[in-house]
Amino acid sequence: MATGSGKGKAILFGEHFVVYGLPALAAGIASETTAVITRVRSFGWKLVDNRPAMPGYKEKKYEEQKVSIDNILKHLNIDPTETGFQIDLGGDLVCASGIGASAASCVAIARALSDEYSLGLDDDQINEAAYMGEMGYHGTPSGLDNTASTFGGLIWFVRDLNGGPPKFEKLKLGKAANLVIASTGLTASTKVVVGDVRKKKDADPDWFDSISSEYTQLVNDARAALIELNFDKVGTLMNNNHELLQQLTVSCKELDNLVAIARESGAIGAKMTGTGRGGNMIALAPDETTMDKIAEALKESGAAGVWTTSFGL
Ligand code: MEV
Repeated sequence: MATGSGKGKAILFGEHFVVYGLPALAAGIASETTAVITRVRSFGWKLVDNRPAMPGYKEKKYEEQKVSIDNILKHLNIDPTETGFQIDLGGDLVCASGIGASAASCVAIARALSDEYSLGLDDDQINEAAYMGEMGYHGTPSGLDNTASTFGGLIWFVRDLNGGPPKFEKLKLGKAANLVIASTGLTASTKVVVGDVRKKKDADPDWFDSISSEYTQLVNDARAALIELNFDKVGTLMNNNHELLQQLTVSCKELDNLVAIARESGAIGAKMTGTGRGGNMIALAPDETTMDKIAEALKESGAAGVWTTSFGL
């Protein structure tokens, strides 16, 4: 029997843009998914998924999850028809679109398999295996989610569009930043939403180039503002990033509503995070008291789930 774990994440800047090789900033959060591998006498693999989740999340992702697990096994040269095993998924990461739940489970499973089959994989190899798993969920993952899940912390990430390993850097801030995460309770298919953005880009490349150059300036400013601990500026840039995501049509009225409530109750900035069209919103709070106030307002407004966390240290 062996265990492994993978962290959840929040994309601070750059969902969707990251697919096209633009930089993104993501923060690992404390909650994680765990995987336990137990060998069994029957052939093949069996999944027991005990992760806490938004209603409908697991059902909606199940077919993709099966492809994802098969991809990881193939990548690691493990043939479950020779030695059968059970995968038990658990942990305290509540599965919802936008929190990196699929990547966290890929990382957890890869780590548990590495341990059970004495593969001795280092973090870079775990990240590669998890990337193959992520391909089960959508054909063209940027690699951001699995990298944030494998390494945790605050990361600056750039995908290599030629298929080489991504460039990423761990950033440390002099002070923790307070974040509220709230869920719409809606689960979107990353494959569908990423595909829709690609169609829009292909239909009007000039429009996409102009939004992309605005975003590139924004994310570079955000990186500098984070390092300078200028959280007011970071918040403004989060608001601006949300507007660009609205223009990409990946936000929705439920996300816009949570963003508005967070801003009205004291957030210095708020935006959707991850795939969009449902999933989660993040809000940056100036201090812990305001963070709790924002979380309370979001709960009262009927958000399907609300969590507080911090990043940067
Ligand atoms: C999904 O969490 C983030 C997206 O940018 C897709 C990706 O990076 O592969 C929408």
